[in-house]
Amino acid sequence: MLKISALIFVLCLIYSGAATPVSERASNHQANDCHSIHIFAARGSTEPYPGQQGVLINAICQKQSSCGYEDIGYPATFEDYCTSAAKGVSNGTSLITAYAKRCPDAKLVLTGYSQGAHVIGDILGGGGGNCPVGGLQPTNEALSPESMSGKQFVAAVLFGDVRHTAGQSYNIGTGADKNGIWPREGEQLVSLNRWESRLRSWCDEGDPVCAGGPDQSRHFAYFDTVINQAAEWIRTKV
Ligand SMILES: *[C@@H]1O[C@H](CO)[C@@H](O)[C@H](O)[C@H]1NC(C)=O
Repeated sequence: MLKISALIFVLCLIYSGAATPVSERASNHQANDCHSIHIFAARGSTEPYPGQQGVLINAICQKQSSCGYEDIGYPATFEDYCTSAAKGVSNGTSLITAYAKRCPDAKLVLTGYSQGAHVIGDILGGGGGNCPVGGLQPTNEALSPESMSGKQFVAAVLFGDVRHTAGQSYNIGTGADKNGIWPREGEQLVSLNRWESRLRSWCDEGDPVCAGGPDQSRHFAYFDTVINQAAEWIRTKV
């Protein structure tokens, strides 16, 4: 019950930050070009595209000659939360698969915040099941490591993940040993962990979403505090 009330509590928050303009260089991709580094971003609930992750996108693309991003289009709503996340999973999987096929030399980076982190985690690990706010999220197969070669998919970063799971090797931050609202277990966890060397999940212990913490402001603070760290880690992977 505690978890459900935490989610409802968070669901009542409306994101109020300003949209981060993404620099020209990292602007949303054109239909037929291929970048050397291509980022897929899944926004947090109710955020504009690309939301707070714009800062990270700019930091990753800084000083790169061929780097761009694309939004994973999905509702990002609090209503029908798990249906919304499932739409992101299905659209993200199609977009990533299509880009990888069309641009086999591109290095792919995935980033997700809050509900968007849930989406990226489900794409990589498989998702679905009993949604903590009611109903069922349709299940999806995890992307197979064979479908996206190690050469292509280089890094995924998650911030304030709804499905944060305590004690995983890729967890970073003071909430690393805490569970989020809907932690992964069983096959979905095993499957996500296949990517562990290419995955980092930031969580602050105060964050109600990823750590069951008491301080909603911590959920909105990642992009002030860990951007440089995240961008630096990604640079070691591209
Ligand atoms: C998938 O995402 C793309 C890129 O953001 C968007 O143009 C498209 O409308 C989305 N499709 C669905 C079915 O949401």
